[in-house]
Amino acid sequence: MTNILSFVSIKGGVGKTTLALETATSLAKNFNKKVLLVDANFSAPNIGLYLDLTSDYNLQDSLNGNTTLQNTIYEAHGIDIIPSALHYHKEIDPYKLKSLLQKYKSRYDFIILDTSPNYEELRPIIAASDKIFLVSSPDHVTLHTTLKAAKLAQEQKTPIHGIIVNKIRSPKHEYNLQEIEKISNIPVLARIHEHKEMARSLHKKTPLSILAPRHQISREIENFASAIAGHTKKEKWFYKFIPYEPFVPKEEVNRQFYKAQL
Ligand SMILES: Nc1ncnc2c1ncn2[C@@H]1O[C@H](COP(=O)(O)OP(=O)(O)OP(=O)(O)O)[C@@H](O)[C@H]1O
Ligand SMILES: [Mg+2]
Repeated sequence: MTNILSFVSIKGGVGKTTLALETATSLAKNFNKKVLLVDANFSAPNIGLYLDLTSDYNLQDSLNGNTTLQNTIYEAHGIDIIPSALHYHKEIDPYKLKSLLQKYKSRYDFIILDTSPNYEELRPIIAASDKIFLVSSPDHVTLHTTLKAAKLAQEQKTPIHGIIVNKIRSPKHEYNLQEIEKISNIPVLARIHEHKEMARSLHKKTPLSILAPRHQISREIENFASAIAGHTKKEKWFYKFIPYEPFVPKEEVNRQFYKAQL
């Protein structure tokens, strides 16, 4: 069954939009999935800006009944996108999002929501989601702030399926994956370093998964997308020549475990 996934954190700038966009693109490009990416960050929408989309209609037009949801869908890089209005519409009822999207579940393999870091704005988005992925950088300030979103999801009984650790800068001075899992009690499903190539992707208005598919960030996003798509990855050819258990990174073990549960 199609799932509505959202990337959340109460902290701004951690990479929610980047992860939502890159995961959507990778699922479509590498795993042939039909994906709808919805900009559900009502107060500070970014997807349209990331992709340089010009749109006549947006999510708010559909939520307030001005047009059908179909009229708000645009295509870019192999995914369908619903942008949000650049100007904040106070009168919109964001709790309508859930029922609006339910009707579109049968058309897509995945519906992915980009979200706001604002606590109150996040409530209706979590209510509309089937699964949550937390996004955090590995410092104590960001992790503890991100975990406020986990609390909100737990209150609403929306399952949290994992954490993506993004913008790793200086591992010696940051939490490692074991520490993050111990503090949060949530498995880490991807580990992404901070890299200047993301600035090029932003500047070119093109997802990195398209611009530089072999880049380490694109490959890690692909590994994550592979896990949520339930795709079986071919074992590296040289594994069979190694007489002992090869070293497999923790996030990869978590992904294999995650896939097995799907
Ligand atoms: N791994 C990374 N390496 C370098 N830059 C990154 C990385 N991930 C994201 N960025 C950059 O960080 C900035 C913020 O990212 P993004 O917009 O995805 O965050 P956000 O959590 O959606 O922010 P907001 O809460 O404001 O919506 C962007 O300039 C993005 O290109
Ligand atoms: Mg964002």
